[in-house]
Amino acid sequence: MCGIVGYIGTEQAAPILLDGLEKLEYRGYDSAGLAVYDGQEIQVMKSVGRLQVLHELSHGGEKLPGTLGIGHTRWATHGSPNNENAHPHFNKDKSIVVVHNGIIENYMKLRKLLLARGYEFVSETDTEVIAHLLDYYYKGDPLEAVLKVMQRVEGSYAFGILFREHPDELYAVRKDSPLIVGKCGHGNIIASDVSAVLKYTRDVYFIQNEEVAKLTKDEIHFYNIDCEELEKESTRIEWDVNAAEKGGYAHFMFKEIHEQPKAVRDTISPRIRDGKIVIEELGMSEEELAAVRKIYIVACGSAYHVGVAGKYVIEGMARIPVEVDLASEFRYRRPILDENTLVIIISQSGETADSLAALREAKRHSGVTVLGIVNVVGSSIAREADHVMYTWAGPEIAVATTKAYSTQLVALYLLAMRFAGVRGTIGEEEMADLIRDLQKLPDQIEMVLANKERLQRFANRYAAAKSVFFIGRGIDYAISLEGSLKLKEISYIHSEAYAAGELKHGTISLIEEGTLVAAIMTQEELYKKTLSNVVEVKSRGAFVMAVTNLGHTDCEKTADYVIYIPKTNPYFTDSLAVIPLQIFAYYVALAKGCDVDKPRNLAKSVTVE
Ligand code: F6R
Repeated sequence: MCGIVGYIGTEQAAPILLDGLEKLEYRGYDSAGLAVYDGQEIQVMKSVGRLQVLHELSHGGEKLPGTLGIGHTRWATHGSPNNENAHPHFNKDKSIVVVHNGIIENYMKLRKLLLARGYEFVSETDTEVIAHLLDYYYKGDPLEAVLKVMQRVEGSYAFGILFREHPDELYAVRKDSPLIVGKCGHGNIIASDVSAVLKYTRDVYFIQNEEVAKLTKDEIHFYNIDCEELEKESTRIEWDVNAAEKGGYAHFMFKEIHEQPKAVRDTISPRIRDGKIVIEELGMSEEELAAVRKIYIVACGSAYHVGVAGKYVIEGMARIPVEVDLASEFRYRRPILDENTLVIIISQSGETADSLAALREAKRHSGVTVLGIVNVVGSSIAREADHVMYTWAGPEIAVATTKAYSTQLVALYLLAMRFAGVRGTIGEEEMADLIRDLQKLPDQIEMVLANKERLQRFANRYAAAKSVFFIGRGIDYAISLEGSLKLKEISYIHSEAYAAGELKHGTISLIEEGTLVAAIMTQEELYKKTLSNVVEVKSRGAFVMAVTNLGHTDCEKTADYVIYIPKTNPYFTDSLAVIPLQIFAYYVALAKGCDVDKPRNLAKSVTVE
């Protein structure tokens, strides 16, 4: 996720671009850049770090004169955050310049082709491929070149493009990454979302997938991929600037909950090719994968809960023993590791002090391979791990994780499947079914999200709860851990997660009339067992909210309130069942008037021990 702005008009472009980028900083903030054209030369200025640095470097844009320009605030995907990788990116003679948001999935292939044709690369980004590919196809007509590039490129993208030979034109293109066009009194503007243009206009055009916009200072023309001109109506935006930054949602957390289908799709799709799981960044040969005898998953908080689910999935699919550790424990417990051990460190921020210390502890043991599953490119854990598998969640702003959690889960599913494939613990047919089910998850998450109103009514009733219990067995226990943490961290209601069979060994004494118990029952093999535990708590007065698979209507005879999730492979149910629990926590916190995005006493990145 990155932020894009472009302007063409009668005003100086750079201050408008900086102003727009400031509104988009929530989309990425590791580096930023501007390209401004004064009719003579396209000048580029970039800087690492927050936008403020670029602001100061360019003297608020004064150092870059010109009334046509594009700007970018980056959230690194390919290549660490440094000046070379910051956007905009040029072709070789600096006559074409581009900013990009999204992921070009076939960039390696395109890069090889371009290298063979004599193109040279100065960055590690997938975006630079676009600048050179445009150069390759450009024969005097920018639109023709842009359309040809669109036909070659796979993945998601929003581009802003300038051509030196066309000083009165700005091009905007998109597929699966957002981009809008606004018409203001003194020119036209493009941006990743409306927050960046609201200062200048409330009338915007939405560019649809595989469409191109050609902007001059007075006109906007839209084309489809077949170069047919399209008629578009503008939409009047009624949101205020604050809401616009959050895509119209009241909180970043809720926005991020809704971004999960895309985040999960972005994490899965580059790793499935021709019906096979391909995880290039694993950097381990099939022999090395087959030689792994033991896996440790080490993390903190929600990332640790991903590990708990991962244990069930990896052990079940690939039959490799897995230990899951809290990083703060692992780092001091003198773990026994050898050269056949794989240590997986999971971290959204890549900066969590305990996780980083655990990584260093693991690396002290010679021969141990450390794999980071990380969201922030170039973060400490990403840099220090032997290999990194990135989750493509984009920046997560809300303190309580949602979309990063979901992408970490699918990263572990992919790993488990890769191990299972190499070790032959899963047959071809079963693997094909798993891949199909994995690919369905984004749409299924969307289906679960569609039922949120019903959950809000229920959550409003429980805003005054004193204590809530989450119970489940197997993967449902892992889901319970996360559901419980979500609720307590943002609503400040005491809650605990218990393995359903363990409740009667003490904790059941806390159940009294009206206590809310959330029973997670997505594992068919364990369904009846957990149902018996539901009966036990019900007979002590509990009010039971059950989360189970579609079709289990019998559950309504026992539980008081049932939430159904679509059917998927039992290994993948966490991805669906966690969604209503996130929404429930969100609505409870909302009803209580809590600061959802910034809960008390918590920080997004815990860089101290
Ligand atoms: C809970 C939450 C935390 C993090 C934990 C690890 O909603 O966000 O529990 O999961 O602090 O952080 P990362 O993943 O950045 O290492």
